[in-house]
Amino acid sequence: PAGVLARTPPMGWNSWNKFGCDVTEDVVRRTADALVSSGMRDAGYEYVNIDDCWAEPDRDPASGRLRPHRTKFPGGIGALADFVHARGLKLGIYSSAGTMTCQRTMPGSLDHEEVDARAFAEWGVDYLKYDNCHHQGRPAAERYRRMGEALRASGREIVYSICNWGEESPWSFGPVVGGNLWRTTPDIVDAWETPPDSWFLGVVNILDRQRELADFARPGHWNDPDMLEVGNGGMTDTEYVAHFSLWALLNAPLIAGNDLTAMSDGTRAILTNRDVIAVNQDWGGSQGRLLRDSGDGAQVWGKPMSDGSTAVVLFNRAADPTTISTTAEEIGLAGGGPRALRDLWTGEETSTTGVISASVPGHGVAMYRVSQPRVS
Ligand code: GLA
Repeated sequence: PAGVLARTPPMGWNSWNKFGCDVTEDVVRRTADALVSSGMRDAGYEYVNIDDCWAEPDRDPASGRLRPHRTKFPGGIGALADFVHARGLKLGIYSSAGTMTCQRTMPGSLDHEEVDARAFAEWGVDYLKYDNCHHQGRPAAERYRRMGEALRASGREIVYSICNWGEESPWSFGPVVGGNLWRTTPDIVDAWETPPDSWFLGVVNILDRQRELADFARPGHWNDPDMLEVGNGGMTDTEYVAHFSLWALLNAPLIAGNDLTAMSDGTRAILTNRDVIAVNQDWGGSQGRLLRDSGDGAQVWGKPMSDGSTAVVLFNRAADPTTISTTAEEIGLAGGGPRALRDLWTGEETSTTGVISASVPGHGVAMYRVSQPRVS
């Protein structure tokens, strides 16, 4: 229905992956302008999200409020929200369901939920990422419920992003406490794969932890496999195409994490691919799934689309190129006859009578949208 917050997966940008604690109001302003000039806003990116380190280490003694860092955000959050809103965009902010945030540079919102939610609403904030650091051993469902209630009581529509790294099954309590999205894993890093004992995860490590979660996603409530690393320099463009394609198919929030003021044409082309974004933003909200794992690194992923077509990702996890094939039947399309096949990365339109096959580069994908047969 209309009016559902995060009716489709949120799209935007977040400061953390590129800027870490060096986020400033100047970075946020330049990013908002870049979202417009790059065409990203028109492609669907909407939220400009400030992550950790935006506040002073102590609360305002009189009001009990968090206060913006005096050198990094001298103009305050309200003026920044006005700047962002004037460009047709929305502003996001960050806190932790604990006594401090993860970088320990500012207080968290535990036991201060109402005063903080009221301040966010008054400043014109549209999105809260709520982290899990310094939680004092208190149960997640309770800590996240309290902020969910405070946000609802604030009188402003604020997207609620639960960031507890997949601990205590946020896909179970998240929707109940008003969460619009919940992180399913520890933090992403700008790498294809990390060692098995690493807390930080590469793209394939994260993908391996999404398998059982598809049924929990629906309009207004999304699994969040963490923000995008596209364009941050640690992977090849082929790997970033795979990362973006699979996040789109998983109905992940598409939150860019690179420096939008200095991105290559290749990075911009990946982030603004409208055919791939359309798969992510499909109104029906069915999350894609792994349909087949061949055991040698070749995987077939599919997502049913609201118009009866299926989006398909042929994913080559191995380093060498290989041919990967699937069939209309395997991706859930019944009935024979020729059907339209659109390559979502080249834009090429062909047709198939049943087999979909591609030569896929190492650490790469081929991505298609396969239609129902035309009725003549
Ligand atoms: C946690 C979160 C990250 C980021 C950092 C900031 O690690 O999972 O996404 O917000 O904190 O300190």
